[in-house]
Amino acid sequence: MARIYYYTVHERIWHWVQAAAIMLLMWTGLEIHHPQTWSLLGFQTATTLHNLLGFALIVNALLGLLYHVFTEEILQYVPQHKDFFDMAWKQAAYYLSGIFRGEPHPIEKDPDNKLNPLQKVTYLLILNLLLPAQLVTGLLIWGAQRWPQLTERLGGLVLLGTVHTLAAWGFAAFFLLHIYLATIGHTPLANIKAMLVGWEEQHHGAHKHASEAPRRRYGLSQVGRVEAPRTSTSQGDE
Ligand code: HEM
Repeated sequence: MARIYYYTVHERIWHWVQAAAIMLLMWTGLEIHHPQTWSLLGFQTATTLHNLLGFALIVNALLGLLYHVFTEEILQYVPQHKDFFDMAWKQAAYYLSGIFRGEPHPIEKDPDNKLNPLQKVTYLLILNLLLPAQLVTGLLIWGAQRWPQLTERLGGLVLLGTVHTLAAWGFAAFFLLHIYLATIGHTPLANIKAMLVGWEEQHHGAHKHASEAPRRRYGLSQVGRVEAPRTSTSQGDE
């Protein structure tokens, strides 16, 4: 089975720090909002951890942004195809019905086009709208006693708290959908394994890229690298 290198170490660290931080932020946020119902850590610890994780997420998001801009990987998120809507529709039809009939994925993934149109739109919204809204409102709520005038000018704690909570529910919804979609590769753990180790095993279409030169810029020289099929079949169904 051939395998292709998709995710650099930086991308994987950015992704998993973000995932871990958001999961813990959701939990500690629940404890802060409903301390009577959710009280594993206790209100004080949950609040301190929530603030620390919020700052960690801000740093991670800024580093991730720099990485994606300088490596030009940010272009992966920008819808480009002229038949974008057609492809988006095909992908939606696959998620809604094709997948349950065992049809193949309508859009073949490759290292220069890792994301299908629906992923591009979703990740663009999550990273450029939801995440900034969550981080900025969180920062302003944290700073309400430090810079009360700024908080007031931007709508006060009631508005900021409402936006912060709504954005958190947005993340919860994304999270459920994202985990479900992460499991629909050729095996339930195939995509998750790829996001952990960088390499993705390809069932078909992989050889198309075998002769293409991997990208050379900014430490991405490994991305797109293809390892030829192994001779022994030690991977069970693969
Ligand atoms: C709420 C926290 C999370 C956020 C904001 C998030 C965000 C993202 C983003 C932006 C990508 C695209 C990365 C790229 O292709 O360059 C991605 C991919 C991926 N994520 Fe997450 N993720 C989160 C949590 C998780 C969790 C908990 C899992 C696994 C259980 C997971 C599994 C994956 C996998 C397998 C991919 C690659 C396949 C794909 O693009 O769907 N993520 N995630």
